[in-house]
Amino acid sequence: MNERVVAPFGRRLCEVTRNVGSGGYRIFSALDPTGPEPAAGQFYMLAAESGWGSSEERPYLARAFSVADAERQQDGVRLDFLVQAVGPGTGRLAGLEPGEGLLITGPLGQPFSPPRELLHQRRPQTSPANIAGAILVGGGIGIAPLALWRRRLLDRGTPARVLLGFRDEEHLGGLALFDCSEIRLASEDGHRGHQGYVTDLLAVLLAGDDAGSAAVYACGPPAMLEAVRLLCAERAVACELAMEAPMACGFGACFGCAVPVAGGGYMRLCVDGPVVRGDQIETALVPGSGH
Ligand SMILES: Cc1cc2nc3c(=O)[nH]c(=O)nc-3n(C[C@H](O)[C@H](O)[C@H](O)COP(=O)(O)OP(=O)(O)OC[C@H]3O[C@@H](n4cnc5c(N)ncnc54)[C@H](O)[C@@H]3O)c2cc1C
Ligand code: FES
Repeated sequence: MNERVVAPFGRRLCEVTRNVGSGGYRIFSALDPTGPEPAAGQFYMLAAESGWGSSEERPYLARAFSVADAERQQDGVRLDFLVQAVGPGTGRLAGLEPGEGLLITGPLGQPFSPPRELLHQRRPQTSPANIAGAILVGGGIGIAPLALWRRRLLDRGTPARVLLGFRDEEHLGGLALFDCSEIRLASEDGHRGHQGYVTDLLAVLLAGDDAGSAAVYACGPPAMLEAVRLLCAERAVACELAMEAPMACGFGACFGCAVPVAGGGYMRLCVDGPVVRGDQIETALVPGSGH
């Protein structure tokens, strides 16, 4: 069982320790002196200590960020985030300098579940010896939580195949968070890897004999997540999706992140997600999410 790690009460001040370019994105790191190590798939609400929420300028509210990597060190937990600057909040975070303060709340939300647990829910008769491992499918900035998940799976000896897709060169980045030799790439403009969608690569893998005993984990734009959800549903393959919705609080208070669940009703993605099973939701095409 991959237990949700519970956030300590309140916001904590961390020091930014690095900020480097990675293709079209940036990776910035901060040292969390007192927080716990997060589970893969969880997220933090982030705000810069200065240049945030000032008199008339946006951003006001903290912004949700998946943790892309994390490692316990002597003086705290190093947290890595992958950022795509799309507006005032992400723009400020992308420009953080080492030594600046970062206010964090987290880790928040539900993490990814191990393949054994996910498969057991979908096909209780699957024996542990027949589990083919994990297939990680990422699109654009959505590759972030898969980097930490891949590392945690490999630490447990679980094989993980990684498929990453990007729109074009400008929207390709973050590969430094992965071990590139094991990744299969797709790009819509054909400048790297397969020309087309990353879901084309997934469809090929799921046509294999062992597909039913694999567990698929995906994060990316809503259209990609919906394609993954449908492919897995058609082939009765267990899958989890790390989704996005506009998040004002991140801990269940504002209901801004409500998404429809299969069979009626809603869930708050910040507390019941952001990682959800494919069969839990009506659709991954959530209005207001995705860039
Ligand atoms: C659980 C979760 C994890 C996330 N992880 C990352 C990450 O690792 N790296 C990263 O760069 N971004 C991530 N995001 C998206 C990030 O939170 C938004 O891009 C950010 O809030 C936009 O703020 P802004 O002030 O820069 O732009 P705004 O002016 O607020 O918005 C700019 C554009 O981004 C879209 N947008 C706004 N908020 C969201 C949102 N919550 N989700 C998706 N699109 C949004 C808007 O529709 C608009 O087109 C995550 C979001 C969630 C909910
Ligand atoms: S973001 Fe406020 S309830 Fe989910």
